[in-house]
Amino acid sequence: MRILSGIQPSGRPHIGNYFGMMKPAIALQDEGDAFYFIADYHALTSTHDPTQLQENVRDLTIDFLACGLDPQKSTFWRQSDVPAVTELTWILSCVTPMGMLERCVSYKDKIAHGISPSHGLFAYPLLQAADILIFDSNVVPVGRDQKQHLELTRDVAQKFNDRYGEDLLVIPEPRIREATSMIPGLDGQKMSKSYDNTIDIFEETEKKLRKKIMKIVTDSTPVDDPKDPTDSYIVQLYKLFASEGAVKVMEDSFRAGGEGYGYYKQTLFEAIRDHFAPMQERREKLVKDTAYVDGVLEEGAKRAAEKACEVTDRVRAAVGM
Ligand code: TYM
Repeated sequence: MRILSGIQPSGRPHIGNYFGMMKPAIALQDEGDAFYFIADYHALTSTHDPTQLQENVRDLTIDFLACGLDPQKSTFWRQSDVPAVTELTWILSCVTPMGMLERCVSYKDKIAHGISPSHGLFAYPLLQAADILIFDSNVVPVGRDQKQHLELTRDVAQKFNDRYGEDLLVIPEPRIREATSMIPGLDGQKMSKSYDNTIDIFEETEKKLRKKIMKIVTDSTPVDDPKDPTDSYIVQLYKLFASEGAVKVMEDSFRAGGEGYGYYKQTLFEAIRDHFAPMQERREKLVKDTAYVDGVLEEGAKRAAEKACEVTDRVRAAVGM
């Protein structure tokens, strides 16, 4: 079973990325042939500073390794080190009806958030389809926001197979874990860089982390009054980090009243800080070992290119090249 997923280097990863994709991807390393990459071609749609892009790729590699990605178990590379994927994107674009791309909500959503409407942004889901199909991927662990892109990938692969031959491209399955498929941000919307509501995995300082958590939106129930834990973003986030027992203690205390929201935010802050502390420690070591980090990407690119070549040869032959 080949497992594949990607993440854009468009800033530091946040806990939505972590629970939606990084953690499940790391857990799947033991279940099959894991292929993970940093989607720097995709990031060109929003990151236009070359130095920034380079730094983001390096930082994200370190972050992923610090969180538990094991290069002995997984193939890990930078997307642009395997440029064959852009060729497959073109070939796929010739079997893709315009309407299929026009229906993608992420394009409209990104424009609404101020990203310039380039052709790259519009064609983005097809590059993603090529990312997946070029490695004969079976399973793709992602957050819920990627569901439509996975559906498009399946439809495009089917169209290709219908035109050129059954079983040429493997039809992948998304793996979306319901409980962590859409982590809320500080304001309760989906946690996302474009909504400016993120908590990063590795905030620069504890003070910054705490300050962000204190910004989580709450209602204005007075300190002494009972509070409803069901819709609280504090509780929703706490559930990601705490045991069932600890969550119950917080929920009971909400219902009993007597504590202000600041108290629960402090508990959440401590849980997040402690959860990522060992990873932070690993990160500090990795930052100093640039040769190792570069080596991981180099080795990953070699392995990924080999597999991509296999599928590209098959596709080129099928279309008459
Ligand atoms: P990206 O970089 O926006 O996000 C990386 C992963 O994090 C998940 N995610 C979330 N999950 C739960 N709650 C959230 N608030 C949250 N925010 C982000 C995303 O669902 C994603 O799984 N297009 C992709 C990158 C990509 C890709 C691929 C993924 C390129 N090619 C091929 C899979 C397969 C993206 O922009 O992810």
